[in-house]
Amino acid sequence: MTDDLTHETLDLDDESDSNTARLDAWLEAVVRGFHVSSPNDEFRTKWLASSRADGSVDVGVWESADLPLASAVPVATFAHFVKTLNAGAAVIPAWMVTDVTVAPTHRRRGIMRRLMTENLESAVAQSMPVAVLTSSEGSIYQRFGFGPATRVAKVRVDTSERFRLRERPNDGGRVVMVDPATSWPILSAIFARAHATTRGSVDRPDYYEAARTGFDWDEMSEDRKQRIAVRVGPDGEADGYVAYVVKDEDADEAEVRDLVATTPTAHLALWQFLADIDLTHAVLATVPVVDPLGHALVDHRVRHTTSIGDHLWVRVLDVPVALEARPWFADDRIVLRVVDDLGHADGSFAIAAEGGRATVTPSREEPDVTVDVETLGTLYLGDVGVDTMARAGRIAGTHEALARFATLADGGPAPYCNTDF
Ligand SMILES: CC(C)(COP(=O)(O)OP(=O)(O)OC[C@H]1O[C@@H](n2cnc3c(N)ncnc32)[C@H](O)[C@@H]1OP(=O)(O)O)[C@@H](O)C(=O)NCCC(=O)NCCS
Repeated sequence: MTDDLTHETLDLDDESDSNTARLDAWLEAVVRGFHVSSPNDEFRTKWLASSRADGSVDVGVWESADLPLASAVPVATFAHFVKTLNAGAAVIPAWMVTDVTVAPTHRRRGIMRRLMTENLESAVAQSMPVAVLTSSEGSIYQRFGFGPATRVAKVRVDTSERFRLRERPNDGGRVVMVDPATSWPILSAIFARAHATTRGSVDRPDYYEAARTGFDWDEMSEDRKQRIAVRVGPDGEADGYVAYVVKDEDADEAEVRDLVATTPTAHLALWQFLADIDLTHAVLATVPVVDPLGHALVDHRVRHTTSIGDHLWVRVLDVPVALEARPWFADDRIVLRVVDDLGHADGSFAIAAEGGRATVTPSREEPDVTVDVETLGTLYLGDVGVDTMARAGRIAGTHEALARFATLADGGPAPYCNTDF
């Protein structure tokens, strides 16, 4: 780093007192960056176990210990771990960037830029096709080639008598309440099936297990409020679940913490279950922007969208591997030029698609269409179409080439990422 700063990767396995203090100080910097209360012992222990389980690589930046009032808490943090992304036609490795913080005392002097640049170089060195993150603000990560690629909606669903499905799910399945403490094998199996079939899904960090089975990360204590219902399909197989809380006995709102369904019937059956919770009259949830619920209701206004926001950001690092893992919707061949200031995805690539899949190879031909790598990230999972991005001035090409690219690239289900990290 610069003269007065050193950066260091944490050793998550060293249990000496001095290293434990180092880990605690790093975690303190992260929670401070996100304005969260300082962690207690239980939080620290669980955080460390989860970080180890994920193979997280945690980097800290420290001021010189010789400086007056030098703190043990680092002035910057940065972490990544590797999971998977469902790109629509294949599930590929995803380099998940998280815990990016810089102390107010050290902001805007290039610390994050340096950490991100080096981190993406490591990702490329490890042959990662894409890096992904979620962002606290909308204009930080474009400069590193990330584009917002999936969105989520926050909804308030009126579950008074106005809530009526056009057709009550009636396939012989049932919904059962389960003990959160022992629910994890069922829940994780349901999520694994949803992940394998949902375009845009990112596999979950280990801390989800603690969150579902009895630890409230926000309150940093045992979670005695969360309830979990599992839907069992007619074949006896669990095909969905919902985890929810009713925060205050007097409140009439239930808040969904997690809803995962592997079939449309399970999805509606879980909503019917939520609507049937006595003493509550509304449900708050985070859901896909394109969501069948409203269309399944007699009165679609019962499902009220309170906000829509970006969720997963994608940064393409290896164009052939990334593009071969997404679906294509016409048999055609196009040469795509990708402009990438950091160089990782820069070049021209021939996309030869047939039967829904493409072979993507570096090419020296004149490009048909040109995008920058950020735009490629936004197009990647299909949340936004070629025509929209072209009209935003984000794709260059002749009218005819853009139309061919749109026919080739656009289609399939809207992506949804149901994982926070
Ligand atoms: C966001 C954060 C990590 C930036 O760290 P930083 O060291 O100040 O950033 P840098 O000085 O390296 O800035 C790199 C570039 O990003 C830009 N940038 C930094 N923070 C930004 C922000 N919040 N909004 C818009 N642009 C931002 C800088 O202007 C700079 O642009 P340039 O290099 O193209 O001129 C820091 O402000 C922070 O910790 N914020 C609170 C926690 C947070 O939001 N983390 C991100 C979670 S996803």
